[in-house]
Amino acid sequence: MAYSEKVIDHYENPRNVGSFDKGDDSVGTGMVGAPACGDVMKLQIKVNPSTGVIEDARFKTYGCGSAIASSSLVTEWVKGKTLDQAADLKNSQIAEELALPPVKIHCSILAEDAIKAAVDDYRKKHVS
Ligand code: FES
Ligand code: FES
Repeated sequence: MAYSEKVIDHYENPRNVGSFDKGDDSVGTGMVGAPACGDVMKLQIKVNPSTGVIEDARFKTYGCGSAIASSSLVTEWVKGKTLDQAADLKNSQIAEELALPPVKIHCSILAEDAIKAAVDDYRKKHVS
């Protein structure tokens, strides 16, 4: 499998690796697995409760280079975005940015699912 330069860059220098405290009210956590290959991705957002803007993001991914690159990219993209904007992110944008080949498209879908799950989790904590 030939990886694109952008995948290799994110794989070798992953951005925003780590975790936030799941119990923190300002944190949303998305944990998803890919049935196709068994890879697991955890993506977390830290939200400013008064503005609804995502201020920070972290990820941990046990998976292939494309899955790591996809989650690293998403943590960069969602910073400064609203929850709606983050939930709107499409895997096709990730796949295009990283020039993923067809067999690696599901890795970008994992990242889309993970950010959506993180936004959902945050929203569930804040239903009044
Ligand atoms: Fe999941 Fe690549 S198949 S690591
Ligand atoms: Fe399965 Fe990348 S997430 S091969």
